[in-house]
Amino acid sequence: MRRIILALPFLLFLNCKQQPALPTGLVTEKAMVVSAREEASKIGSEIMENGGNAFDAMVATELALAVAYPFAGNLGGGGFMVYRKNNGDIGGLDYREKAPLSAHRDMYLDSLGNVIPNMSTVGATAVGVPGTVAGVMEVHKKFGSLSLSDILTPVIKLAKKGVLVTEKQAKRLESYKERFIQVNGDSTKFAANFVAGDTIKYPALASTLEKILENGRDGFYKGEVAEKLATFIQEKGGFITTEDLERYEAKWRQPVVFKYKDLRVISMSPPSSGGVTINQIFKMIESYDISKYGHNSAKSVQLFTEAARRAYADRNYFLGDPDFADIPLDVILSDAYLQERMQDFSFDKATLSSDVSHGEVEIIESMETTHYSIVDDKGNAISATTTLNGGYGSKLYSAELGFFLNNEMDDFSSKAGVPNMFGLIGAEANSIAPEKRMLSSMTPTLVEKDGKLYMVVGTPGGSTIITAVAQTILNVYEYNLSMQEAVNAPRFHHQWLPDVVFFEEEGFSEELKSSLKEKGYQIFEGRSRIIGKVDAIRVLKNGKLEGGADKRGDDTAVGY
Ligand code: DON
Repeated sequence: MRRIILALPFLLFLNCKQQPALPTGLVTEKAMVVSAREEASKIGSEIMENGGNAFDAMVATELALAVAYPFAGNLGGGGFMVYRKNNGDIGGLDYREKAPLSAHRDMYLDSLGNVIPNMSTVGATAVGVPGTVAGVMEVHKKFGSLSLSDILTPVIKLAKKGVLVTEKQAKRLESYKERFIQVNGDSTKFAANFVAGDTIKYPALASTLEKILENGRDGFYKGEVAEKLATFIQEKGGFITTEDLERYEAKWRQPVVFKYKDLRVISMSPPSSGGVTINQIFKMIESYDISKYGHNSAKSVQLFTEAARRAYADRNYFLGDPDFADIPLDVILSDAYLQERMQDFSFDKATLSSDVSHGEVEIIESMETTHYSIVDDKGNAISATTTLNGGYGSKLYSAELGFFLNNEMDDFSSKAGVPNMFGLIGAEANSIAPEKRMLSSMTPTLVEKDGKLYMVVGTPGGSTIITAVAQTILNVYEYNLSMQEAVNAPRFHHQWLPDVVFFEEEGFSEELKSSLKEKGYQIFEGRSRIIGKVDAIRVLKNGKLEGGADKRGDDTAVGY
């Protein structure tokens, strides 16, 4: 008895440690959507409240983001979605853009073999065949429970009624204004000066959505909209034809699935690198007791950075569209291979990226993709990331159809060894070919614990997506933060090349950075930017849902 009494404080301590963090984000009983704009989260949540499932809500949220968040939400882009049904069935949908039929390996090179500046990033030449409408229609066909009219009507209404400009959006529109004018001329809708509190209406977009409501997928990829779109892109010097549009298909893919301690992680497979790369990172750190090192401590940062260094080196070399490149997934995801990769890691000293591979590049980070997470009242979950690539994509805006077009062609490797806009360099596996999908970093992810849904997570951020998703999961699981705290917590990033570690401005002390420098880490000294804008959901022990809506943006959780 005495022994038990003496052991009591220790037992209580253990017990406390195992208690999951109390929620600090929005908590709802049954269902939730977390996305980049309140209007979109609200439409998605209302779809579920009116009897729709998570898949219906996905269609509504994705299209509502195309209206409310034209910065990244889109009809002219593409994305990836991973789902887990309440019976445990999982799957992934690839609605990534693809290269047009006329594309070829050297299409962005001049006669001397140099990359032509801006050709894969700005204007019509940068546009890949959009996948979003095919993606949502495929989801609706396979899993939808409400009629398309029930789902699209509130979205069309929002486009007609208009969307309020937020402070952050007003700043963004201002900073992109010159580029909109350069690409579209000064009569473009976005040449206006917007201030917070203005309302922007989207009647042209509403009428394109009406065509999709009437004719489904064909309302976009065939007939009037397709003809207008192809003509517009070609008049502006681009390559997409009506044949390219007609041939576009979203593809169902097996997600990447792996165990990390007692978690089961389900994430997107190629042509996204997200799932493979976080799988490698998690497996490389699994044997270390990272929670003991402390959240964002020097040792945690070091371990994570070294794993990321090795994983991104593999990413850039091996990964591409699996329908075009042979990817040795069974080797690069095997335990033996990943243990071997970490053999030369030591806490005493940084590994040099040049010892892992070669190259010198610059990184530019940005937040121009968008992620949303959904759980419905039946326990179905969806994690989806969608993008135009750059902010407002190629900046090319079809006034007639009411949407921006992507600049996703830049995610290919235009030339081996030359970095793209995220500083990522690529190899043969990600070279350009007709109808090939460009490699992505988007990482829509679901996490199970004890066989049950535990987290839904994802983010924008180009090459920083993968590390931001991994750190958010570790924040909850290893460092016992609530979902909202985990999303808000300061983040860092490393991607093999350039051989530097990026830190967000807030939350990392000079002492921490100095101790890393002493060990040979190079710290990025330029202007620090935000890393990721994570929107996530945690399922609490009592079955309620906690939202994590990133404080870095206008992101909002809505549910009931
Ligand atoms: O697919 C990709 O990896 C990129 N096109 C994502 C772009 C992105 O996240 C932009 N925001 N930073």
